[in-house]
Amino acid sequence: MGQWKRTHTCGELRASDAGKTVTLCGWVHAYRDHGGLVFIDLRDRYGITQIVFDPAAGREMHALARELRSEWVVSVTGLVSKRPEGTRNPKLATGEIEVRAKHLEVLNRADTPPFEIASDEPVNEEVRLRFRYLDLRRPLMQQVLLLRHRLNKIVHRYFDELGFIEVETPMLGRSTPEGARDYLVPSRLHHGCWYALPQSPQLYKQILMVAGLDRYYQIARCLRDEDLRADRQPEFTQLDLEMSFVDMNDVIEVVEGFLARVFGELLGYQINLPLPRLSYPEVMRKYGCDKPDLRFGMEIQDVTDLVLQTEFRVFRQALEQGDIVRGLCAPQAAERYSRKRLEELEEFAKRYGAKGLAWLRVETEKLSSPIEKFFPGSVQQALRERFRASPGDVLFFVADSEEIVCDTLAALRNHLAAELGLIQPGQFALAWVIDFPLLVWDKEENRWVANHHPFTSPKEEDLPRLESEPGSVRAKAYDLIVNGYELGGGSIRIHRPDVQQRVFSMIGLNEEQAQKRFGFLLDALRFGAPPHGGIALGLDRLVMLLAGLHSIRDCIAFPKTQRAQDLMTGAPAPVDIKQLKELGLA
Ligand code: AMO
Ligand code: AMP
Repeated sequence: MGQWKRTHTCGELRASDAGKTVTLCGWVHAYRDHGGLVFIDLRDRYGITQIVFDPAAGREMHALARELRSEWVVSVTGLVSKRPEGTRNPKLATGEIEVRAKHLEVLNRADTPPFEIASDEPVNEEVRLRFRYLDLRRPLMQQVLLLRHRLNKIVHRYFDELGFIEVETPMLGRSTPEGARDYLVPSRLHHGCWYALPQSPQLYKQILMVAGLDRYYQIARCLRDEDLRADRQPEFTQLDLEMSFVDMNDVIEVVEGFLARVFGELLGYQINLPLPRLSYPEVMRKYGCDKPDLRFGMEIQDVTDLVLQTEFRVFRQALEQGDIVRGLCAPQAAERYSRKRLEELEEFAKRYGAKGLAWLRVETEKLSSPIEKFFPGSVQQALRERFRASPGDVLFFVADSEEIVCDTLAALRNHLAAELGLIQPGQFALAWVIDFPLLVWDKEENRWVANHHPFTSPKEEDLPRLESEPGSVRAKAYDLIVNGYELGGGSIRIHRPDVQQRVFSMIGLNEEQAQKRFGFLLDALRFGAPPHGGIALGLDRLVMLLAGLHSIRDCIAFPKTQRAQDLMTGAPAPVDIKQLKELGLA
């Protein structure tokens, strides 16, 4: 027993170790049988070491080495030797040495893996998720998990230094529908009653402020039964925090310090503080969405006034209906976009509800396009100036309702930036978006709904208009955006029960309904709630950004598919009738 136990890892040995007898354990990453010598690359989490099996070192061992296949688990004892001149591998940290095997023990065999661990070739994601333990063996995936671990360590260190207390909040709570759909858990002891899994620790952390904790943080698992996307999982992790006796600037300062440390320690990347703060109306006008990618310009301009001076029927009709016309200028896009590719862009625009996509190529003397003839020279000149356009650029326009114009141009802007190569890899553009409306009108439900959540405080100066002009009331809310993603969102909360009840009333909850659903919060607010506020950052998204990945699933050890399934375990799955009976569900 213990003969096979390792003395070193596969990433550890250097030229200075030459002459030592060592034992390494790991997986067969690659094997090359040269008839005489057999080479294997032995892999573990720490690296790869080349092992050489020489028939002269033992016939039996050499025969066994010839049987080795990918992903077998072995232990090798041998002599660390400097590699001969010309066979060193500068790509490997251990590339100056190899281990000349004296003893080989097969600890476990492996079936032929469904994909090659050693290769960087893309693998079908369903296969990766079904065999996640193999997928996670790949060095890139291990790097992501390591990065995530180091991020978590920074979280604990940073917030501890600032006097934040980590508190764990329950997973089984009360359903407080508002926001996403809850995951529900039936109660065995109270048939007909249900727990809800937390969408976030929002109400608990506010109550911790009422409890006098002053500064709370938690790496919190959150569950939301919503439609999934590349940056959304049903089960995800937030860095959640809450502070008492603070205003927005205090929360922002704490988060900015955290981000500076994370980007600095993990990437050696310096972010310039303070981060820019942009108002919601400004970002919607300039970029068409509330989480613009600020790594490139291509700002949207309104041209409704100029279009009034043209004869272009499509635009004029739109204006008569009360629609607007806005556009953007794609730098040096003329060469890349043939007629056919412009038509593809029009199809792209239509996916966002646009009826078409008008374009004008900027040339030295004039604008050129099938619709150019409808634009008088003075308007052409004014368009050039408004977009600061240069020859070779292409102007794109959408006429529609403000919502469709914004959606379409925001998507087009991102699409063009990617196609035109306007984004430099390794660059990060972080900013705060502030001055959100407190309430937005929900057309389907025909009522006002909270833009963030109903515990967000209105700005004091806007509070008198809460009932008379609800749409004009701004929230003390702030979103953190990075490279076109919403990384975090938070707010100063309502701490007065009367204001909380007024906001509940605005979203259609009368006193009785509010009491029934959120009575515990309203009660707590009546017992001396301090002014407080906080934020939550999506940790999976932060890892995704730090690692330069595009799917949140690559940043979570055991993620769910877009259809919320765990392909490895087969969850969700039917359960025994006995289990259902106990729960009163059969
Ligand atoms: P919010 O709902 O904006 O705020 O969530 C905060 C951050 O969590 C991340 N996030 C997600 N990440 C992956 N998958 C999801 N389905 C998902 N949903 C959200 C995002 C987002 O910015 N209680 C408030 C915070 C507060 O007010 O303090 C909240 O949960 O990065
Ligand atoms: P039409 O006259 O409909 O053939 O359209 C002429 C050009 O205007 C085409 O390039 C259309 O893509 C474009 N177009 C049509 N409707 C709109 C719209 N609502 N906004 C922007 N461009 C449009």
